Amino acid sequence: MVDVQPRNMAQTNGSNGAGVEDAKAAKDIRKLAAPLGLHEYWYPAIEDKKVKNKPVGLKLLGDDIMFFRGKDGVAALWNVCPHRGGSLMHGDCHFEGTVSCPYHGWTFDADGNVLAVLPEGPQSKIPGKVKARKYPTQTHKGMVFIWMGNEEPAPIEEDVPPEFFDGHSMMLYAVEYWPSNWQIALENGADAHVPYVHRNAIRTLIYPMGLSWPVGARNKVINGRSVITYRPPAGANRVANPTQKVTRTYFPAVDGYWPKHAYRNLWTWAFGWARRRAANKPPWDTPEEWRQGHHMPGMYRGDHRTDMYTRNSVPVTENVSRQIYYKAVRPNSWIGRWYERIHFKLYGRWMQVTNFSKQDFTAIGPQRYDTQEYLSSTDSHQVVWRRLILQARGMMKQEDALQVPETEAEIISFRQQEEVGREPDRIQELLESSSS
Ligand code: FES
Ligand SMILES: [Fe+2]
Repeated sequence: MVDVQPRNMAQTNGSNGAGVEDAKAAKDIRKLAAPLGLHEYWYPAIEDKKVKNKPVGLKLLGDDIMFFRGKDGVAALWNVCPHRGGSLMHGDCHFEGTVSCPYHGWTFDADGNVLAVLPEGPQSKIPGKVKARKYPTQTHKGMVFIWMGNEEPAPIEEDVPPEFFDGHSMMLYAVEYWPSNWQIALENGADAHVPYVHRNAIRTLIYPMGLSWPVGARNKVINGRSVITYRPPAGANRVANPTQKVTRTYFPAVDGYWPKHAYRNLWTWAFGWARRRAANKPPWDTPEEWRQGHHMPGMYRGDHRTDMYTRNSVPVTENVSRQIYYKAVRPNSWIGRWYERIHFKLYGRWMQVTNFSKQDFTAIGPQRYDTQEYLSSTDSHQVVWRRLILQARGMMKQEDALQVPETEAEIISFRQQEEVGREPDRIQELLESSSS
């Protein structure tokens, strides 16, 4: 039997085949990254309810993939028909659990087997001889996850947040496309941009933020799969200080105050109850690996205490990424579930995803990612996350990744850490102490 593969092995290696020697000589960690994403991982693809009786096409990590309803749930095949390259997403589901190519009617099951060639009749000699490429899928809490690797699938619990597997978290979803590479999208987390870029977001007007610190969060690598922050980054200041107002700070070098005005304090008193409610809650109950910070293969998680927010950046092409947002909540009654659903539909999704996140991609859309950087202490999380990616599944072995020398940008970031009186991150120790 012939299996049709969508890509060659060189393409499956996220480092695009960069060898250890190339890596050692690299002056810029970003050049060793995976522009089309890390392949040997599970990714969210589509909500189960969106796949009905027609095939649906989606691009993930540069591959065109077709989803349809197989006998045991949503299945995924490479979109390219093994016969003569017909586009399966333009086909039909004539028979339960199958999809037929729109060209010569080759009809496939969820495993990619050809069950029939409709115009050739039941005596066709093709069935049993060729297979379409199948991608393993699993559906949890209404989200279809897909294994994008060529190796045997890893345990899905390593790549998908624990809220999908517990009995009490409810998941709410939103999707947005950004005109930026997945990695650029992900680096938009746990740095100093939050109080600046989002200063006029509705969320910030309700939960005012102070300045970021010049220090940067402490980082910790867990199980070789995540880098978490010890204290909430600036965006979560409201949790630490429920009565917080916008404080204006004098900057002698520009002889002015930032923020320039105090008018945002005119209404914050009215939302004190909301800030107190969040502040009185304990941190989101989750294993340390899944706390606030970055997690393989492409998530940024923020602990709002009332909910856990996850932005999963899924590579589409080298210059486009799809952000799949999970808002995890834990209501304890049917009224609570109903409230969360309505609140998210009418307001929460717009407030967090549209209003707040649009400000992110307005900033990062035109950003350059190929010029020399000068990193601050507050970029140290990015330094660790980039290093973690080097030793992801399908990338380099940990011992090889550890040989990649510190780059100038990293050294600058560590120097800033020392200058603000913070013990600098020791990258090797962080990574070595936590093997996957
Ligand atoms: S190209 Fe698909 S059936 Fe011919
Ligand atoms: Fe942001």
